[in-house]
Amino acid sequence: MVENLMEKLVGLCKRRGFIFQSSEIYGGINGFWDYGPLGVELKRNVKEAWWEDVVRKRDDIVGLDATIIMNPKVWEASGHVAGFTDPLVDCTQCKARFRADKVYLVVAAEGENVILQVAVESDGIEEAKAAATAGANSKTRRRLEQKADRLVWTVECVDKLPDGIAALCPSCGGELTSARKFNMMFKTFVGAMEDSSSVAYLRPETAQGIFANYKNVLDTSRLKLPFGIAQIGKAFRNEINPRNFTFRSREFEQMEIEFFCRPDEAQTWYKYWRDTRYKWYVDHGLGSDKLRLRDHEPEELAHYAAACADVEYEFPFGISELEGIGNRTDYDLSHHQEAAGRDMSYFDDQSKERFLPYVIEPSGGVDRATLAFLCEAYCEDEAPDEKGNPQPRTVLKLHPRLAPTKVAVFPLVKKDGMPDIASKIHADCKSAGLSSFYDEKGAVGRRYRRQDEAGTPFCVTVDGQTLEDQTVTVRDRDSLTQDRIAAEKVVGYVRDRIS
Ligand code: GAP
Repeated sequence: MVENLMEKLVGLCKRRGFIFQSSEIYGGINGFWDYGPLGVELKRNVKEAWWEDVVRKRDDIVGLDATIIMNPKVWEASGHVAGFTDPLVDCTQCKARFRADKVYLVVAAEGENVILQVAVESDGIEEAKAAATAGANSKTRRRLEQKADRLVWTVECVDKLPDGIAALCPSCGGELTSARKFNMMFKTFVGAMEDSSSVAYLRPETAQGIFANYKNVLDTSRLKLPFGIAQIGKAFRNEINPRNFTFRSREFEQMEIEFFCRPDEAQTWYKYWRDTRYKWYVDHGLGSDKLRLRDHEPEELAHYAAACADVEYEFPFGISELEGIGNRTDYDLSHHQEAAGRDMSYFDDQSKERFLPYVIEPSGGVDRATLAFLCEAYCEDEAPDEKGNPQPRTVLKLHPRLAPTKVAVFPLVKKDGMPDIASKIHADCKSAGLSSFYDEKGAVGRRYRRQDEAGTPFCVTVDGQTLEDQTVTVRDRDSLTQDRIAAEKVVGYVRDRIS
């Protein structure tokens, strides 16, 4: 268990070039993040692992790359123009803005007598509850503790609170306005005119590009049900409170599958995707009990959804969603069919039936997955220095498939021809498609530690023995064991270990 993990991870991401604040030289911009040289490799590897597993290795899923800006009628038909809203409240005093469903009032009242009323964001609830009960005498405290859940209200339902209790700002204690709907889609204008006829939206999800192309893909690819269409791409949401590093951003990437199937097979496919997607995260390093699969309660389900489950991860800031898997029935296709006036039905030439397929949607966030992989990988332990003395080290134990650099190659010293041999191994790795890093500067222990921090799973060292028998050492980042192998076998060895 690493203390202050989030703080340390954010520091490492900046120091080593994983993630930077967007436009930092101008003071940044809230909710936007840039991926540096190591970060972009990590994120690409996450996307490539997903694409490889859900598209290339399968016969029943094809890919798509739709535009970010689409005809605005897409977003009317999908319900986003009317309903993609969050409840927003403003502080009348300090002018801060909050999502009304994320600000809590902790209110301890005994009849008319309000013992305590504080406004907090979710991470302050437990402390505020304890404070609320601590202020009461022991008899009252027991009663309050028994109904502890009823102490907490979101400011969204402030009208249901006892008289005399107002919604307060968690920052300054000022009074909050009542909640109003705030549409999270970013608006822009297409063409030279800036009026209502040229309004367009930056897509808030990649899914609708798939639904809008469903017929194109069906008619051109000779696919039969069940089949899926997968897409990776940017999505934009004007989040009221972007927070927790990249977890809730305003610009992010999604990796989504819309899997079309017969309605009577939808629940079977839903269960298949729910389990398959959970296992994908386990297989890529989230094997600890911080990962969980949570089925939605019936009252949590959207009105069109027959079932939904979330793959969740316990981040240092709380348990949150990485990916949702839903049975969306024929909701999306039927809405586009009606709005566009195009037939979206499928003809099953075996059963001779015509129907609208149901859709199972596994919808994940690339940035959230990347953040979870980083959180899980971050470790602090010890590794011996050149003299064999244990030294503290920070290491990212990333799954080798995701690691930005697969292998680092070092000459032990900068003489006796060692740099030439090491450079050749480095070049061989690169031409075999392995991302490799060559480093000849500084003590070898320091070079190992720099690679540990970058998550590089293997370090190859050319030393005195190499000059005699053409063997090199390969150090394993996690076990710290060193294998001695023939220099010419490095590429094959690293490939085998990665797969
Ligand atoms: N098509 C369904 C859909 O978009 P969603 O639950 O709104 O569903 C899917 O989003 C995934 O996209 C989430 O599980 C999350 O990983 C990612 N995501 C959503 N909003 C995000 C944000 N503001 N920042 C980063 N990732 C986000």
